[in-house]
Amino acid sequence: MKIGIIGSGGREHAICKSLKNSNKINKLFCFPGNAGTEEIAENIKIDMNDFESIKTFIIDNNIDLVVVGPEQPLVSGLVDYLEKFKIKVFGPNKKASQLEGSKIFTKNLCKKFHIPTAKFGIFENKKEAYKFLLSSNFPLVIKADNLAAGKGVYICNNKIEGNIAIEEIFNGKFGDAKNLLIEEFLEGEEMSFFTIHDGKTFKYFETAQDHKRVLEGDKGKNTGGMGAYSPSRLINEELKNKIINKIIKPTLKGLSELGTEYKGFLYTGLMIVKNEPFLIEYNVRMGDPECQTILPKLKTDLIDIFLACCEKRLTDVNLEWSQEKSLCIVLCSKGYPDTFKRNIEIENLKKLNLNKNEYLFHAGTSEKNGKVYAIGGRVLNFISLAHDFKFARENIIKKLKILNWSDGFYRSDIGHRVIK
Ligand code: AMP
Ligand code: GLY
Repeated sequence: MKIGIIGSGGREHAICKSLKNSNKINKLFCFPGNAGTEEIAENIKIDMNDFESIKTFIIDNNIDLVVVGPEQPLVSGLVDYLEKFKIKVFGPNKKASQLEGSKIFTKNLCKKFHIPTAKFGIFENKKEAYKFLLSSNFPLVIKADNLAAGKGVYICNNKIEGNIAIEEIFNGKFGDAKNLLIEEFLEGEEMSFFTIHDGKTFKYFETAQDHKRVLEGDKGKNTGGMGAYSPSRLINEELKNKIINKIIKPTLKGLSELGTEYKGFLYTGLMIVKNEPFLIEYNVRMGDPECQTILPKLKTDLIDIFLACCEKRLTDVNLEWSQEKSLCIVLCSKGYPDTFKRNIEIENLKKLNLNKNEYLFHAGTSEKNGKVYAIGGRVLNFISLAHDFKFARENIIKKLKILNWSDGFYRSDIGHRVIK
C-alpha cells in the first residue's frame, strides 16, 4: 500500500514511523514533511493548503490512503475535497472540524447538550466586552474565536489584563477574530484525552499531559507544547466513563443532529476538578507533542486502525498498548515562542544512538546535502519509554547532552507532577 501523510511536525514524523513498522506498506509520502520524514518517506514539496495539487499527486501516484495531521487543512475542508474524488482519507470533515475551528460552535453545543464546561459569554465588539469586565470576578479567561495555534487564550488576573486581551484580539493579533469568548476560570489539573472514530463508533486512544508554557515550573508564554507524558496521572475507569458519557457521546449526538459524523482522532482537552471532567476545548487531530508519546506505545498495526476507520469497522480492531510510561522533551530554537534564528545546522545528530525504547522525531527541520538544519521553533522531539517517568526523563536528558546543540533549549522539568 501507498500512504500519504499531510503535515510537517513531530506528530507527522511519529505517524510515519508507526506506519513504517507495518509490512503492509511499501511507500510513504509526506506533504511537505521534514528532515526526519525524509529518511523514511518521500517528502513532496506541495503546500498543504494547495488542495488541488495534493489531489492530483495522490491520483497520479495511486496513493491508497491519506492521513491528515494538522488542524488547518481539516478546518478548511481538505477531507471533504479529497473524498469528492473518491480518495480514502483519515480525518474529520469540515463540518465536524468546527469543534476546533470555532470555540463558539463548541460552546453552543455544550449548552444545548448539557456538556460540563466553564460558564461563558460571547462578545461581538469591544464595548460589550469591556462592559462585562466591570462587573466580573477575576481570574477569568478571554479567548479569540478562531484557530490561533495554541495562542489566542488569555488568563486574566485583573481588569487591566482583561482590557489588553480584548484590545489585542479585536485588533487582529490572531487573525480575523469576529468574536471573543469570556469564560469562568476553572481550577484543577488538565488532561488530554484521545479517542479514535470511524463515524459509527469510537475507541479510547490513551491520555497524555502536555506542558504548554515555555519556562520551567509551567511559567512564561504559551507555546505549541514543550513536552508531554503519557498516561496522565489522573485517569481511572470512573473518570474515563464520565468523560465518554458526559462529554464525548453528547458531542457525537450533536454532530449527528447537524447531519454529520466524526471520523479521525478526537483530542478532548479537559480540566479535571475533583475527579469531574470539564471540557476546555476540542482539537480535531492528535496533539503535538502528545502524539509522539502515545504512538510508540501502540502495539496494533496503525494502518489496520486507519483503514478500519475509513471503512466503518473499527469495532473489529483490538487496540493493544504497551504498559510502559512514555515521556517527550521538545528541543526548541533559542528565542521560541518569539523570534528565533532559522537555518542553523544541528550537528552531532549522528552521535545519537537510540535503543528500541527511544525515539527521535523531527519537527522544524530541513535536510540539505546530508546536513540537518533547524527551520522552526520546535525542532526535535526526544521520547523515551520506560518502567517509570523519572528513568525516561533521565534517559532523554542524557541524549540531549550528547547532542549539545548550542542554539537550542529545552525544559528539563517535563513530567514534574509525576516525578518526585
Ligand atoms: P485552549 O486553547 O482553549 O485549550 O486554552 C489554552 C490553555 O488555557 C488551556 O490548556 C488551559 O491551560 C488554559 N485555559 C483555557 N480555558 C480555561 C479555563 N476556563 N479555566 C482555566 N484555564 C483555562
Ligand atoms: N499540545 C497541544 C496541541 O496539540 O494542541
